[in-house]
Amino acid sequence: MCGIVGATGTAAVQATLLEGLSRLEYRGYDSAGIAIQNTSNGAFNRVRVVGKVQQLVDQLEQKPISGSAGIAHTRWATHGKPSERNSHPHMLDGRLTLVHNGIIENFLELRADITARGGRFESDTDSEVIVHLVAEFIHGGMNLAEAVRRGMSKLEGAFAIGLMSSAERGQIVAAKRGCPLVIGIGKNANFIGSDVLSLRSFTDRFLFLEDDELAVLDSEQVTIFDGDGNQVDRATEIVLDQGDRIDKGGYRHFMEKEIHAQPESIRNTLEGRITSSEVVAQTFGIEAVDVLEKTEALTIVGCGTSFYAALVARYWIEDLARVPCDAEIASEFRYRNAALPKNSLFLSLSQSGESADTIAALRLAQTRDYLHTMNIGNVTTSTLMRDSDSAIAMRAGVEVSVASTKAFTTVLVDLLLLALVLARTRGFPGEEEREIVRALHTLPEKIEQVLGLKERMQTLAEEFVTKKHVLFLGRGTHYPIAMEGALKLKELSYTHAEGYPAGELKHGPLALVDRKMPVVAVAPSNELLRKVQSNLQEVRARGGKLYVFTDEGTEFVPGPDVTIIEVPEVHRVLSPIVYTIPLQLLAYHIAVHKGTDIDQPRNIAKSVTVE
Ligand code: M6R
Repeated sequence: MCGIVGATGTAAVQATLLEGLSRLEYRGYDSAGIAIQNTSNGAFNRVRVVGKVQQLVDQLEQKPISGSAGIAHTRWATHGKPSERNSHPHMLDGRLTLVHNGIIENFLELRADITARGGRFESDTDSEVIVHLVAEFIHGGMNLAEAVRRGMSKLEGAFAIGLMSSAERGQIVAAKRGCPLVIGIGKNANFIGSDVLSLRSFTDRFLFLEDDELAVLDSEQVTIFDGDGNQVDRATEIVLDQGDRIDKGGYRHFMEKEIHAQPESIRNTLEGRITSSEVVAQTFGIEAVDVLEKTEALTIVGCGTSFYAALVARYWIEDLARVPCDAEIASEFRYRNAALPKNSLFLSLSQSGESADTIAALRLAQTRDYLHTMNIGNVTTSTLMRDSDSAIAMRAGVEVSVASTKAFTTVLVDLLLLALVLARTRGFPGEEEREIVRALHTLPEKIEQVLGLKERMQTLAEEFVTKKHVLFLGRGTHYPIAMEGALKLKELSYTHAEGYPAGELKHGPLALVDRKMPVVAVAPSNELLRKVQSNLQEVRARGGKLYVFTDEGTEFVPGPDVTIIEVPEVHRVLSPIVYTIPLQLLAYHIAVHKGTDIDQPRNIAKSVTVE
């Protein structure tokens, strides 16, 4: 999704802006641009490219731009195709420049009005209306900050913006509504960025804007105003560097590194959260026991992979704690008039903490009669973690690859801990909790063992390279894992894949099965194994090619059309976490064979900050 960075100081900012942009690359984008102000005459120099930040770097190496204040952007196209003229920063008459992340929903009306007043547009974007609106207020005699504040009141939708005017040298005006934007406080320099990570090299002191607030920055100070123009006091927060290095650490791709980081990330998320025999209830906040004791129902929301984690949690919570639990796709929940059971806990899941639909779901929950709102997230400074009543860190470490891996397995671990604490408040037997906790202690080693399937998956992947469609099957907690396996394959290798509950096969998808259709089954040894085995017979009878992930002794017989992949045996409650790993490896290696852009697949973004 679009990324914003801006800097104003006493020294040259070109390198700072490029460094900030490169730190935002993980979000996914298709073009990039930069505008730097010549502080002696206020004029802007702008360079925009379609493609990677490196192309911008190459161009600027040939012809650097000097100046000590500027804004820069990575664009993920929504309105108008990726092209230089649609890239940001947008500019009007060389006097006003803008970067924008988000979507202006009323841009067509605004554009028509501005055109009727004589305005001329250079791009197809929704963003360009902002620069025209602000310019009109400046022509009416306002300064940049006041013009931005008035302009904002005309906008519908979500945005984070940064603007500069040639009349106010060295000044950046930034504002947000529903999209992320942070302010970094430096020494003789101040910054704006789409996230803390983008400014990490320059400062550890941050200010966080609320929606509809506006900040005015120059090299010496930052002043914040609310939507009515009143000055707001906001405390600076220190966000310490958590030692997350953004490099591939010797792996070919960030995704490969992140898959292999899972033993460590799971160890980290468990640290201090389990004793030798039980889960530490305070993991979920000081009031956790009180809140969970009162909880009579849960609503868990998320998007994509986070939604699949919610689905697994629903099985755990209802099975272990016997508490009714709903798992919903955030973009559906936000527009649904869901009936709310008494004493419901609202739980959002989000790696980035900035998914627009999940934030909107939280905002809706805040207007409803929920007992408490909770978030499990991976970015402690994110909107969802900051704005929920309580927040629990996944501790996955920075996840750069667009395809989520370690965030999924760590959030599953945290959800299982939550299910156990909730279950304890409902009289779940201590001996059973002890048994699961003992198994959790060995989970990182189990994951290490499963990672040993790497070579096998590499070889197996060759059989999938020419396939156009793949079906993933599972039952119970492994049904969402089948969907997660299918999603990983879709996004990485652009192969059409579906995840289905194996019992549904004969109600439709069986019609697709023939010799050309690989069917991947997630079939650990548990109470549903016999059922899965019968479902797979239905595939064999239609000539389908089966790939069965299962553990030793499950009596699957390999054959020309049945490939068995043995996964180390694990406590039945933990198997969805363990069985995720080989599916990640399989999708990754299929994508390697196909030569796709693994860390930044086409058309999708890491942090989906627009609806
Ligand atoms: O940051 P979030 O967890 O809110 O992101 C939700 C989805 O956009 C994300 O999980 C997406 O589905 C991933 N690309 C999956 O690999």
